[in-house]
Amino acid sequence: MDTIEIIQPDDWHVHLRDGDHMRAVLAHTAARFGRAIVMPNLKLPVTSTEAAARYRDRILQVLPSGARFEPLMSLYLTDNTRPDEIRRARDAGFVHAVKYYPAGATTNSDSGVTDIVRCADTLEAMAEAGMPLLVHGEVTDPQVDVFDRERVFLERTLGALVQRLPRLRIVLEHITTAEAAAFVRAAPENVAATITAHHLLLNRNAIFQGGVRPHHYCLPVLKRERHRQALVEAAISGSPKFFLGTDSAPHARHTKENDCGCAGVYTAHAGIELYAEAFDAAGALDRLEGFASLHGADFYGLPRNTRRIVLERRPWSVPQEYAYGEHRLVPMRAGGDIGWAIA
Ligand code: NCD
Ligand code: ZN
Ligand code: ZN
Repeated sequence: MDTIEIIQPDDWHVHLRDGDHMRAVLAHTAARFGRAIVMPNLKLPVTSTEAAARYRDRILQVLPSGARFEPLMSLYLTDNTRPDEIRRARDAGFVHAVKYYPAGATTNSDSGVTDIVRCADTLEAMAEAGMPLLVHGEVTDPQVDVFDRERVFLERTLGALVQRLPRLRIVLEHITTAEAAAFVRAAPENVAATITAHHLLLNRNAIFQGGVRPHHYCLPVLKRERHRQALVEAAISGSPKFFLGTDSAPHARHTKENDCGCAGVYTAHAGIELYAEAFDAAGALDRLEGFASLHGADFYGLPRNTRRIVLERRPWSVPQEYAYGEHRLVPMRAGGDIGWAIA
């Protein structure tokens, strides 16, 4: 199979940032995806419906002309998010999820939740409102090995949450382990997961290939090959619980090539093409459409897209860097080739 036509995909987890940074990266996402869940972890987190409305306006203002792309907004959960805010968000219509960052777990998560038990009333309101909870699933306990933080989060936090709130729809974001894939598969149907292209294509050797590779550092960190294989198996399984979320997370080059480099891999420049590579390598191109274009919309209760795109096996070279406001950004596969392109 050298070409494949699929319903236009959506990206259920993307970081667009703000201001000049957003201007630089939004076109990549909008050229590929019909819709995207826009993460709320700005420097000043998007914690209210009004802030989400203003952020949405800023996105729409810098959309390239002619782009048909709909940003789906999310709210940033804090210890102080009130049930009222959830009802306001639902009534507004453009907020489609609430994001749970354990405080300190990842980029701009300092205002995140210190203990999810404090959010009990708000989570009830979310279950009531049909508002999905998106989870960055890692413990922040410094005693826990970085490579175990996702697995331990399932044991310490997520298992109990799923039991306590059987009606709450939950997406475990950017899963990275065999344990997370198994957890989601075994959970009731209100629990799903997104999987990134980089976690399907790379294992943790990529962080250390010939020297330390800051552009392959993200959170949750890349894991062993057996975990990558389990993620591929989940993605190509056809299960509606698994769907596309790039977690494209741009950072300026100098903030990653740094004494204390930022976490995040930028993949929006090839946001569907990299998945085509991964599915092709697994001999499962026929499963790409479900994963990329159907399962996420179904889970979120949104209509499936009607437009279609064609992907073809046609290698193209990825630039060494892209402009990123006044800075530069190093994309995944910089200076290398990607085997699939949009026709
Ligand atoms: C994300 C970012 O940079 O905003 N980084 C990452 O490594 N994935 C935050 C996140 O999704 O955890
Ligand atoms: Zn995250
Ligand atoms: Zn993310």
